[in-house]
Amino acid sequence: MKGIILAGGRGTRLYPITKGISKHLLPIYDKPMIYYPLSVLMLAGIRDVLIISTPRDLGSYRDLLGDGTQLGMRFDYAEQSEPKGLADAFIVGADFIEDEDVCLILGDNIFYGQNLTLTLEKAQVLLAEQGGAVIFSYPVKDPRQFGVVEFNERGEVLSIEEKPEHPRSKFAIPGLYLYDNTVLEKARNIKPSARGEIEISAINNAYLAETRLRTLTLGRGIAWLDTGSCAGLIEAAEFVKAVQSRQGFYVSCIEEIAWRRGFIDDNALYSIGQALDMTEYGQYLISLVGAKD
Ligand code: TTP
Repeated sequence: MKGIILAGGRGTRLYPITKGISKHLLPIYDKPMIYYPLSVLMLAGIRDVLIISTPRDLGSYRDLLGDGTQLGMRFDYAEQSEPKGLADAFIVGADFIEDEDVCLILGDNIFYGQNLTLTLEKAQVLLAEQGGAVIFSYPVKDPRQFGVVEFNERGEVLSIEEKPEHPRSKFAIPGLYLYDNTVLEKARNIKPSARGEIEISAINNAYLAETRLRTLTLGRGIAWLDTGSCAGLIEAAEFVKAVQSRQGFYVSCIEEIAWRRGFIDDNALYSIGQALDMTEYGQYLISLVGAKD
C-alpha cells in the first residue's frame, strides 16, 4: 500500500500566516505539522509516501524531508497546480500509485492515541480481503460542521452527508482514507462540485453505490485534531505539550516510529540523534537506543 499526504490547499483560515508559508510547515508545539500525518502513515507500515503540495511550497518539503532514506522510507513529491479538491490527489498521484492500494491523509489532520496502530492494521486487512474503501468514523459533539457517516453494526456505510443540518449520526469522517486501486478511475470520472472542487465525498459515494464502503470507528482513546484554524493550531500544540511533558514520550517523532517499526536500526537512530546532539530532540533519540536493553 502506498501513502499520500495532501499538503497543498489555500489555508485561508490561517491568513495572513499562510500568505507566506505553507500551513503544514507551521509548528505544532515542537515539530512541523506534516510530521503528524506522516507518522500515521508510518504507523500503518507504509514506506512509500507521496507528498503533494503547491508549486510554491514543494521545495520546502523536499528540504525538510529529503528522499526518505534516513528513515528507511521513500518519499516522492508532486505539484498540485491549484487546490482542485481532495480527490485531485488521485489524479496528481496516479503515476506514483501505479497498481497499488492507497492511503490518503490530509496534511492538517493529527491522530494520536491508544489502538491507533491496531485500527490502521485492521483497516488494511479489511481492504486486502474485501477491496473497496475504508474510511473512519469519529464521534463528535456537533456533527453538523463535518462530513457525517451513518453505518450498521458490521461497519457497512449506509449514507454519507456533507455538513448536514440534521445529521443521521454523531460520527464525523476524519481526513484519513484507504482505497483500492479503482480509486484512480473513480477520480478521473468525477465532475467538479458547485464550489469547483473534485470532492472526496464523490469518491466515497462511488464506493457506497457499489456497496463497497466500510468504516472503522476511532474510539475515545484516540485524539483527532484538525489544525486548519488558529484555535485548532493552539489546541493541538497544547495537546502535544501536555502528553509529552507528562509521559516523556514524544508524539509523532518520525525517527522514533521509523526505529520502532524496524525501518531503521539502532545504529541509524543513534547517528541521527548524535547529529542533533545538542538539542533535546537529539537527546531523546539517543535515550531511546539506550533504554532498549
Ligand atoms: P481544506 O481544509 O479543505 O482547505 P485548506 O487547507 O486550503 O484551508 P482553508 O479551508 O483554510 O482554506 O483542506 C484540507 C487539507 O487538504 C489541507 O491540509 C490542505 C489540503 N488540500 C490540498 O492539498 N489540496 C486541495 O486541493 C485542497 C482542497 C486541500
